[in-house]
Amino acid sequence: MMRQSYHATISSPADFGGWRAAARTALALGVAPEHMVFVPEGETPPLFAEPLPEPPADARQPTVPRAFPSLAETILCHSDPERFGLAYRLLWRLQADKHLLDVASDPDVQRAREMEKAVRRDEHKMHAFVRFREVEDPDGERHYIAWFEPEHHIVERTAPFFMRRFAGMRWTILTPERSVSWDGGELAFGPGARREDRPRDDDMEALWLTYYGSIFNPARLKPKAMQAEMPKKYWRNLPEAELIEPLIRGAGAAEARMLANAPTLPSIRHQRTQERTMVTGGAPDYAAYGANRRPEDLDEARAQALHCKACDLWEPATQTVFGKGPRNAPVFFVGEQPGDQEDLAGEPFVGPAGKVFDQALAVAGVDRTQAYVTNAVKHFKFMPRGKRRIHQKPDMGEVRACRWWLDLEREFVRPKLVVALGATAAAAVLGKTVTIKATRSKLIDLTETTKLLVTVHPSYILRLPDPEAQKRETALFNEDMARVRDFVPEIALAA
Ligand code: URA
Ligand code: SF4
Repeated sequence: MMRQSYHATISSPADFGGWRAAARTALALGVAPEHMVFVPEGETPPLFAEPLPEPPADARQPTVPRAFPSLAETILCHSDPERFGLAYRLLWRLQADKHLLDVASDPDVQRAREMEKAVRRDEHKMHAFVRFREVEDPDGERHYIAWFEPEHHIVERTAPFFMRRFAGMRWTILTPERSVSWDGGELAFGPGARREDRPRDDDMEALWLTYYGSIFNPARLKPKAMQAEMPKKYWRNLPEAELIEPLIRGAGAAEARMLANAPTLPSIRHQRTQERTMVTGGAPDYAAYGANRRPEDLDEARAQALHCKACDLWEPATQTVFGKGPRNAPVFFVGEQPGDQEDLAGEPFVGPAGKVFDQALAVAGVDRTQAYVTNAVKHFKFMPRGKRRIHQKPDMGEVRACRWWLDLEREFVRPKLVVALGATAAAAVLGKTVTIKATRSKLIDLTETTKLLVTVHPSYILRLPDPEAQKRETALFNEDMARVRDFVPEIALAA
């Protein structure tokens, strides 16, 4: 008997959210990969394929290894028209063999890895080779413009990098497929530019005047399309309200309604399952964490953590000391727990250990204001001794309880590099104890996109009794901070 084939429409070239929703539905319905077709919007679905029905009400979310979502998201940026089908075939096969991704010789895995590498390479190329030229708007404002031709669908993916790097400029990158502009407050994506318009003789001014109107004509902004095309994970790295709200205001009433009603948030049931499979391995007791749901962004997590009582440390402490720094910082420092001064100030690393830390960053030329700085445990643990409060090391139960916040911070910030200051931080990040000796100064793979560097805790240096040893250790710590700068050059202090 012939099996029914189904199709789902994918609204933009690298639409991970759209693919994932369709793939989950297809999986829940038991649609085998050979019967599932993903069709880019605007193309005609195959004649015999029916639109994918609603998923069964009791559909279970698929379990996938932690590395899969990011792999899938990356390969969907590849220009290969088979990418959606390949990602679905992997998802399907992972249900029967959860170690599939480890089988490097498997043809699907092999292809996925090649595609992943190609996308990464393209992304790095774009980071490195986009060159902005200064041009003038028709109204005399200074603007920077660049032309680039990526091989894959990476404009959305690379935009946050340029936004961070050139936050203070108004700029536009034109590519044949998409354009992206930053006006200092929001990123806007638009249609691509024609290859014929590619600047010859560096005539950027002419290029700019050709596209200025279409980029800054508000009538052309399509919030719905933008929302669909810009992966959700990027929005939360952005001043989200700023990004979306003016667009809603400017849009027609019908569009605004559609946008307001768009099911952008997974249902609670979906969120829960996702947590179990992708985050820490256990959905928390939200009430204990001072919350009633999984936070959607860093600010919500921070607000919830103020009321956290998931371990006993909250009670004697003054306040929760949550991480601090830009929400899309490329480097993410993790200390142990707040000390006396941090507990009073409500900010990490502002006391004596913070001074050592700041000093090393200054020597290495690392800009702390561009880094996210946090602790494994968010409440100060101490023993009262007269008027003083003596720092006590958190135990593994406390570290484990507080990992919920640390993991969320990392998930929302999505740093390129995590730096664990000391063994407690390393254990919290890795979920297992390691020695500094075995791990120090290496770049360890945490995920596909994030590396870990383990170094000592600055207080360790402070506590060394011997000035010679202190000097030696300071030099080694400075070297580690220089490694941070070398691995993430965009964190360097402006000269
Ligand atoms: N030590 C830490 O680990 N973190 C701080 O914030 C301060 C001191
Ligand atoms: Fe919550 Fe962590 Fe503080 Fe415990 S230490 S109360 S888990 S934030």
